[in-house]
Amino acid sequence: MLKKILKWTGILIGSLLVLLLIFYGVVYFKTEARANKIYQVKVQQQTIPSDSASLALGDHIAGVRGCKDCHANGGIAFLNESNPIGLLYAANLTSGKGGINYTDQDYIRALRHGVGKDGKSLWFMPVQHTTAAMGNKDLGALICWLKKMEPVNVVHPQKEMKLLGRILTFLDKFPMFPAELINHNASYPEEVTPAVTAAYGNYLAISCQGCHGENLKGGPSNAPGEPPIPNLTATAHLGKWSSDQFVTTIKTGKTPEGRLLSDYMPWKTMGKAMNEDELKAIYLYLHQLK
Ligand code: HEC
Ligand code: HEC
Repeated sequence: MLKKILKWTGILIGSLLVLLLIFYGVVYFKTEARANKIYQVKVQQQTIPSDSASLALGDHIAGVRGCKDCHANGGIAFLNESNPIGLLYAANLTSGKGGINYTDQDYIRALRHGVGKDGKSLWFMPVQHTTAAMGNKDLGALICWLKKMEPVNVVHPQKEMKLLGRILTFLDKFPMFPAELINHNASYPEEVTPAVTAAYGNYLAISCQGCHGENLKGGPSNAPGEPPIPNLTATAHLGKWSSDQFVTTIKTGKTPEGRLLSDYMPWKTMGKAMNEDELKAIYLYLHQLK
């Protein structure tokens, strides 16, 4: 009797292991296929400026859109060696050792389409929430700034997707491949003029969506130990705040309720990079969201 039970338990566990292996095989091959997909995109023609006004504008945009948060000093470890999702560094964007060697066309392909020099999707780089839909003037100024970055010598290890990263990517729970999320046939405005309007706020608030969600209604925390993501629409706290209170919150990290925001909300860099008019425009946009 005992022998029989042991036999059947063994068969059950064996079958489960085989099923798990088959599942992982499917996950592996599907995510590999997506990583290696070649995107044939039509890269727009644009002359990149190099004057000092464009450089200053590009510098400002790189702060506002968070490029500096991830790419300063040769690039942060976005997923470090001990992260179960993968191994991924934000690229060294300079012309130093280990840096990218990009032509103007390569920059436009990466920043409009999320596609690298090799025609494959970049990994995680949040193109859909930063540069994909920028006006041409802003994009040109940003590339002008990128080309003039101080060279640093930082060589990163080869990127890698680990077990958990493949499963999350397979289940579409982690935005690993930005090129999948972008409309590659879109056209862009020549210039988006800064103004204290909800429309301009919308243009800027795209960079809040990566964390606060496409509808900016927040959600549960991204990982254990991190705070939940607040709702930024008028139905939550923000609906009771004045424009000045919102500006103060982002500049000081302290909300009108007296709560001190942690560094999971990038208020220190964002509050420094954005000017008051930009924050007021974002407020107008958020404040009319229900
Ligand atoms: C949340 C972090 C993050 C932010 C914010 C970010 N990047 Fe990246 N970026 C990455 C990562 C990670 C990669 C590496 C992608 C890869 O290796 O596939 C990358 C890759 C790139 C590349 C391609 C480099 C290559 O290896 O071909 C360019 C160009 C780039 N980023 C520019 C920018 C610019 C410009 C901004 C601001 C608008 C920006 N990034 C904002 C994380 C970020
Ligand atoms: C990298 C992720 C990330 C990005 C990008 C981000 N936020 Fe946040 N934000 C958070 C997190 C996490 C919190 C909660 C912080 C805490 O509780 O300590 C938060 C909190 C806030 C709060 C406080 C809300 C409340 O009810 O107390 C405001 C306001 C806010 N964010 C505005 C913005 C705006 C505006 C942008 C875009 C310009 C933005 N955030 C971009 C992660 C992010």
